[in-house]
Amino acid sequence: MASKYININLKIWRQKNANSKGEMKTYKLDQVSTDSSFLEMLDQLNEQLINNREEPVAFDHDCREGICGMCSLYINGRAHGPDNAITTCQLHMRKFKDGDTIYVEPWRAKAFPVIKDLVVDRSAFDRIQQAGGFVSVNTSGRTMDANAIPIAKIDADKAFEAAICIGCGACVASCKNASAMLFVSAKVSQLALLPQGKVEAKERVMNMVRQMDEEGFGNCTNTGACSVECPKEISLDNIARMNREYMKAMVTAE
Ligand code: SF4
Ligand code: FES
Repeated sequence: MASKYININLKIWRQKNANSKGEMKTYKLDQVSTDSSFLEMLDQLNEQLINNREEPVAFDHDCREGICGMCSLYINGRAHGPDNAITTCQLHMRKFKDGDTIYVEPWRAKAFPVIKDLVVDRSAFDRIQQAGGFVSVNTSGRTMDANAIPIAKIDADKAFEAAICIGCGACVASCKNASAMLFVSAKVSQLALLPQGKVEAKERVMNMVRQMDEEGFGNCTNTGACSVECPKEISLDNIARMNREYMKAMVTAE
């Protein structure tokens, strides 16, 4: 398909730092190739701003191929924009029409404070991971080959499906309660389903849920927006599994 060029209007959240009050600013951007990605369009805007001696828009990105989970933008009222099962960096300008006005905002959640413009602090997710999202195996050289432990195909598949969570935070941003249950349940599930993860299962789920609550995320009220907007289509089944793991841990707690 031949590439096309469109002219767009952008309404972008600008905020100097964590303590300042932000506001939506309007920019006009011409000659945007419909083949460019959303982030390439923002690069083009920033070149225009720099040429005009204006401050470029700060936004997060790293891999630009749907792996790292950094490119967290709320576009026209949807996490990662108007497409399904993709991250912002995988969104293309062909999804928009000539003359469109596009609203671009950062994630909105108390536990993800804005640092600057479109960049939020997602270190709350790191602290949840550090609270239990790991397996303490001895890697001193006498470790058993992981392939030597037979695992039912159905469990391996479910563990992989949970493990593809990239920690982007779209689930939190889409949830009316800013709940982190989908993210935490994916991290709990990927280990709870495998024999290697069962040894520390009790402490893991209790510590990760405690840290999630301490970070100020809201409660889950089974709305399901998190899973609908998740770029990796993480299933709500993981939340049910985490709740079961948590109840089991509570019942057997000493
Ligand atoms: S569950 Fe989905 S939306 Fe939430 S952090 Fe993981 S990949 Fe992102
Ligand atoms: S920049 Fe890495 S997922 Fe988008």
